[in-house]
Amino acid sequence: MDNSSISHPSEGRDNLGLGLGLRHCHADQILAGESSVSWFEVISENYLDSGGKSKYVLDQIAERYPIVCHGVSMSIGSTAPIDFGYLGKLKDLAKRVQPKWISDHLCWTGVMGINSHDLLPLPLNETTLKHVANRVSIIQDFLERPIVLENPSTYLSFKHSTLDEPAFLKQLVQETGCRLLLDVNNVFVTAYNNGADPNEYLDQFPFEYVQQMHLAGHEDCGTHIIDTHDQPVRDEVWDLYRRCWEKTGGVATCLEWDGNIPSLSECEAELYKARSYQDSERAEPLKRKRRKSAVSSEPISTPISFILPDVMESISNEAS
Ligand SMILES: [Fe+2]
Repeated sequence: MDNSSISHPSEGRDNLGLGLGLRHCHADQILAGESSVSWFEVISENYLDSGGKSKYVLDQIAERYPIVCHGVSMSIGSTAPIDFGYLGKLKDLAKRVQPKWISDHLCWTGVMGINSHDLLPLPLNETTLKHVANRVSIIQDFLERPIVLENPSTYLSFKHSTLDEPAFLKQLVQETGCRLLLDVNNVFVTAYNNGADPNEYLDQFPFEYVQQMHLAGHEDCGTHIIDTHDQPVRDEVWDLYRRCWEKTGGVATCLEWDGNIPSLSECEAELYKARSYQDSERAEPLKRKRRKSAVSSEPISTPISFILPDVMESISNEAS
């Protein structure tokens, strides 16, 4: 992609307002006109091969609301070949529903043609940056649009990392013209699990390239946090959102809720809490004591020996 065609990052961010992750259990109510949200984010993979009611629902909603396609299978960091079959379907979906943008995660999801269905972390260094930037450029050329990449939730760090995530993302944007999806909950989860301060992370974050933000709930297990998306947004995350809103100048914000999904009205009520954090006085960064991570006190040298043993076991089982 010719990066000269990409506008200045502060331009054209198209603040869609407050949106909700589209979930099938809410579809009938939405089609009945019972939702007041401004836009919907759809999980791309749910609609790549869909027909019947699923296709009908999405087409109807796309006619009435702005849509954003959010994927989990691009595997932008993998060493496996880029899956152009997947990308072709994604491009066809985009032609059909005309999403405002297409997003995925800074992660890898599998190797050897196997999808782990987990968003696995990357060692962040110059080698990875070169690798990911090359793949981003190829994918953007294929999709004929810039993509938007999200900071993932992580549960470990690598000995081979030499860049912090904000620096990595900033360089990635500057080399490829992609944009960023800042998941505020993921910032909190990652910082907690790695014994870091989320405000220090945000001190370095390139807010000028943020196209969208995510909010979600997580499960606090005491020694670690799991990014479950199955409960309301925690107060600590709302506090971070207040800061992110101010630093971005206000961008499209989406609430993700994927487990124990409550009614549409409850989801919307949770989403609309965001309003009270958008126009308030600038908050001082919270001074929270770092909690020592119980997940991994030491950076690891290789993902294969540690990452989600059950996932790796399932991969080996499937491969055998
Ligand atoms: Fe997210």
